[in-house]
Amino acid sequence: MHENTLSENLAETFKEVSAMKNYGEVASYIPELQLVDADKFGVCLTSIDDSSCGQGDCNERFSIQSIAKVLSLTLAFKHLGRSCWERVDVEPAGTSFNSLVHLEYESGIPRNPFINSGALVVSDMLVSLLKDPKKEFLEFVRLLAKDDSIDYDDKTAASEYAEGYRNFAVINFLRSFGNIENDVEEVLHFYFHLCSIKMNCTQLSRTFLFLAHGGKDPISGERILTRSQSKRVNAIMMTCGFYDEAGEFAYEVGLPGKSGVGGGIVAVNPGSYSIAVWSPKLNPQGNSYRGMKFLEKFTTKTGHSIF
Ligand code: DON
Repeated sequence: MHENTLSENLAETFKEVSAMKNYGEVASYIPELQLVDADKFGVCLTSIDDSSCGQGDCNERFSIQSIAKVLSLTLAFKHLGRSCWERVDVEPAGTSFNSLVHLEYESGIPRNPFINSGALVVSDMLVSLLKDPKKEFLEFVRLLAKDDSIDYDDKTAASEYAEGYRNFAVINFLRSFGNIENDVEEVLHFYFHLCSIKMNCTQLSRTFLFLAHGGKDPISGERILTRSQSKRVNAIMMTCGFYDEAGEFAYEVGLPGKSGVGGGIVAVNPGSYSIAVWSPKLNPQGNSYRGMKFLEKFTTKTGHSIF
C-alpha cells in the first residue's frame, strides 16, 4: 500500500484546513500588525536532511514576534549556561504573555523566558553580554537561517514602542526588584527590535532545525547548543511556548513549539524536522487559530509527536 510522504501529508492537510472556516482576530495592540492580510496562510517543513516542502504563502515574510524569544534565549543560554536560571525560571505561567501578576509574589523572577517579563530579562542579559546587541543578535539569526536578507522591521518596532505601555510597566517593575541591569529604554529598544524581525515559513523552519538535531545545525555541522541545552530549550517550548494554552498545544499537537502574535508558529519534531505555519488570525490566547488547527491535523494524520 502507498504510504503518503511528508510533502503529500502536508499538502493534503493544507487543503483540508484551507477549506475550513477561519476564526479569530488579527493582533491590533501593535498597530503595524493590523495592516496584514488576515487570510494569508502558509506552511513549510524542513527536514534534518535539508529537504523542504511548502504550501500557500510560505515565502511571504511576516513579523515573527514572540518566536524570536526562543532565539534570544538560545543566544543567552549559549553564552551563560545554567547561570541564566538565576534570573528567570522554567515553570509554565498559566497566564497571558504580558501578565504581571506573578512578579509581585515571586520577587521579580519571571516564571519562564517566553512570557514578556522573562524575555525582557533575557534581553537584558544580552544587552550586558554583547558589544552591539542588535547587530550581533541579527548576525546570529542570519547564521541559523543561512540567509543574510533577514532583517528587523523598524516600523513594527516603532509601532510597538509607541503603544508599549504594558512592556514599559513590566520592565520598570522588574527593575524595581533589581532584575534589570541596564537602562530600561535600551533593553526595550532591543526587545522590540528582536520581536520585529520578519521571516517567512521557509526561513523559520530552516532557522529552528538545530533544535530538531540535538543543538547542532544539521547542514553546516555547527554546534549551536549542547545536546543537553537543546533538550532544555525544547522542554521550555513544550511547557511554556503557548502561555495559558501550553497544555492545549501539548494535547492537540504534542510537539515543542512557539507562537507569535504575528500569527506564526514553529514546532520541532526532534530527530526529524522543524515546521513553521503562518496565519494571522489569533484565538483569544493570542495564538494563530489556523496554525494550531493545521498542526493538530498534520500531527494526527502522520502520528508525529514526542508522546
Ligand atoms: O511584547 C509583545 O507583546 C510582543 N512583541 C510579542 C508578543 C507575542 O508575540 C506573544 N505571542 N503569542
